[in-house]
Amino acid sequence: MGAQIIDGKALALEVRQKAAADVAAMVAAGKNKPGLATVLVGENPASKVYVSSKQKACAEAGMDSFGFHLPADASQEEVEKLVKELNADPRVNGILVQLPLPDHLDEERVLGSIDLEKDVDGFHPINIGRLAQKGRDPLFVPCTPAGCIEMLDRLNVKLEGTNAVVLGRSNIVGMPVALLLVRRNATVTICHSRTKDLPGVVRQADVLIAAVGRANMVRGDWVKPGAVVIDVGINRIEDPTHPKGSRLVGDVMFDEVKEVAGAITPVPGGVGPMTIAMLMQNTVRAAKIQNP
Ligand code: GUN
Repeated sequence: MGAQIIDGKALALEVRQKAAADVAAMVAAGKNKPGLATVLVGENPASKVYVSSKQKACAEAGMDSFGFHLPADASQEEVEKLVKELNADPRVNGILVQLPLPDHLDEERVLGSIDLEKDVDGFHPINIGRLAQKGRDPLFVPCTPAGCIEMLDRLNVKLEGTNAVVLGRSNIVGMPVALLLVRRNATVTICHSRTKDLPGVVRQADVLIAAVGRANMVRGDWVKPGAVVIDVGINRIEDPTHPKGSRLVGDVMFDEVKEVAGAITPVPGGVGPMTIAMLMQNTVRAAKIQNP
């Protein structure tokens, strides 16, 4: 029997509709619309696409968005000056600095300059630090990891006591999603480039989160029958049969793994839409925190 194909678009729509309803209620109560500022530095084509999708989602949810685009050679001072202005702007409830930043910029300092209450991406060192500590709660959780957990919750996947395997240890996905799984009482293994017998470790997973950025890496015989597989990868591969000459695939070899897994997210249409939905949810929360 094939796996359940998890419809990320449909789940994301539910989250976005709730955010839109919250926005409408805030406006009806005479409050300002929530506003999100996006900061893009440089010309990374994927980042441009992500930022414009985030702005479009704001409009669809009835929120304001304010787009800022700095040149690739913007200085540390220029980026931090912009963030400080946005911190002080009452129309802006959330600030999203699109990553990766150009190499000459100090990412930690930029993220640390965002007002904690406006850190809708959850990457401020204090929010990440709180995520990693028992008994502490971050104000915001990074959107892609939060989206993975939200999907699992909406599908009623039990996490407590399960073996969860995370492929990848990035600051944006792998590490924070592993921390969220620990907080949900899963037993978590984080795999990376030095992991020995990767297929053997992955085969232990009841829940597998793949976030390494390697096209089609996870094969069908790596996966425990019935496992829940969340594929965070977005990789473009050449495909002469496709009209564009290329197409998007995940980190998981979908056609093989769907025959083994209990449930699996497709790429595209899986985790991607959830990331944006969680950003909308976080921005609404930020506005509520700032204008109770
Ligand atoms: N780059 C890739 N994913 C993300 C994200 O969720 N937030 C930001 N700011 N940058 C990213």
